[in-house]
Amino acid sequence: MSTSQVGPGRLRQATIYRAGVLGRRPAVPADFATLEEAARRASSARAWAYVAGGAGEGRTMRNNRRAFDRWVSVPRMAHGIGGRDLSTRVLGTELASPLLLAPIGAGALMRRDSDLAIARAAAATGVPYIFSNQGCNPMEDCAAVMGDSPRWVQLYWSTDEQLVDSFIQRAEKVGAGALVVTLDTTILGWRPHDLNLGSLPFARAEGIAQYTSDPRFLSLAAERPPATSKTTVTLGALRTLAAMARNYPGGFWSNLVSKAPRAAVETFLDVYSNPGLSWGHLATLRDRTRLPIVLKGILHPDDARRAFDELGVDAIVVSNHGGRQVDSSIASLDALVDIREAVGPSKTVLFDSGIRSGADVFTALALGADAVLLGRPYMYGLALAGERGVAEVIRNIVAEFDLTMALTGTRRIADIDRRLLRRAWSAQADST
Ligand code: FNR
Repeated sequence: MSTSQVGPGRLRQATIYRAGVLGRRPAVPADFATLEEAARRASSARAWAYVAGGAGEGRTMRNNRRAFDRWVSVPRMAHGIGGRDLSTRVLGTELASPLLLAPIGAGALMRRDSDLAIARAAAATGVPYIFSNQGCNPMEDCAAVMGDSPRWVQLYWSTDEQLVDSFIQRAEKVGAGALVVTLDTTILGWRPHDLNLGSLPFARAEGIAQYTSDPRFLSLAAERPPATSKTTVTLGALRTLAAMARNYPGGFWSNLVSKAPRAAVETFLDVYSNPGLSWGHLATLRDRTRLPIVLKGILHPDDARRAFDELGVDAIVVSNHGGRQVDSSIASLDALVDIREAVGPSKTVLFDSGIRSGADVFTALALGADAVLLGRPYMYGLALAGERGVAEVIRNIVAEFDLTMALTGTRRIADIDRRLLRRAWSAQADST
C-alpha cells in the first residue's frame, strides 16, 4: 500500500483555488449548510419534502446531528506523517476511501435519470454505489454505465417471495459486491412533510423502476384484477396519470391510454414491503444467494449480536434511515458506540445517518465504523448540478476527510480509533 503526500484533500483544494483564479466557482458549496440551502432553492416542494423530510417532529434527524457535536478530536502535532493511505477493503470490495453511496429511492424527484447520473459520478470517483430497491433506473442500466466500478444492491423484502428471489438473482447478475437488506422500512414512517402535500412518489410511479423492469413483478401486475373503484376526474388526478405515464417505461402517449402504469402502481403498493418481516425470513438468505449479506437499519446491540451470531451475516449498517422512520429514536452515532462494544472489533460494521462532512467520517470511524454511507448530501449535489454535483460532493467529503487525517496525525484507516476522540465539554455538562 502506498501513501500519498499530496492526497485528495490538497488536490481538491488546488483544483478549486486554481479555478478561482480564473473566476470560476465550484458547482456545489463546500459546506453542508450552504449546500442544503442551495439544494432547497433548486428543488420543488414535493422533492424537498421527500428528500429532506424526516419522521414526526424531526427529533431523530436532530439527534443524529447532535450526537456528532458531542465528540471532538484531539489533533496531534509534529507527527512527521507526510502521506496518507485512505484505502480500505470491505467484504472484498476495494474502497479508495471508507465511503459508499447510500441507497436512495425516488431520486428522479430531484432530476430525471437520477440513478444513472449518480452511478456515473460514483464510477468517476471510485466510490461504490448501493443501488436502491426504490431506484428510478433499473439496476442493469446503472451497472451498464459503471464499467467495473463497484456496486452493491439494496433490497426491501417484498410480500411476494418470488419477487425477492428475482431481485436477488438480478443483483447477482449485475455484479453486486453485496446484498444489502434494509430492515427498518417494513412500512413507511409518519412523514408529515409528505403527508402535508399528500405526496407519495411511488403513487406517481416514481421510484419503482426495479419493479417495472422485473419479469416476476410484471407478471403479478398483469394478473392483478383491474381496480374497481372509479377515480374522480380532478386536475390532480390527471396530473398523477400524466406522471405515471411519464415514469412508466415506454412512450408517454401509449402509456397514457394504457392500463399498465396504474396496474403497476397498485401492484407495487400490494407487494412493496413485508410488515411481518422476521428473523425467520432473514435466515433463508444464505440459501438464496452467494453474495455477502449486509443488514441495514440495526440500532440495538441485541439485534446486532443476533445478526452476526445466529444468522452469520457478513456485515451490518448501523442506521436509522436518516431519521425518516421513527421519531425521537436513538442517534445512529450513539447506537454505533453501543453496537461496536457489543460485537467486538472484528465484525464489519458500517454506519450512516448524519454524515455531512469529512470530519464526520473521521468521527464515525474513530467510534468503530469500518466505513460510512453518504446519504442526503449527494442528493443535494444531484439537485444542483447532476452528475457533476454528485461527484463534487463526494470529492469534497473525501478531501476534508483526508485533511482531517493529515492534521490529526493519522496515516491509515486502521489508525483512526477512539483514542483520537474525547467527549466535548458540552456533552459532559449534558450528562451532569
Ligand atoms: C433513503 N434511504 C433509503 N434506504 C434504503 O435502504 N433504501 C432506500 O430506497 C432509501 N431511500 C431513501 C430516500 C431518501 C430521500 C433518503 C434521504 C434516504 C436511507 C439512506 O440509505 C440512508 O440510510 C440515509 O440517507 C442516511 O441518512 P442521512 O445521512 O442522509 O441523513
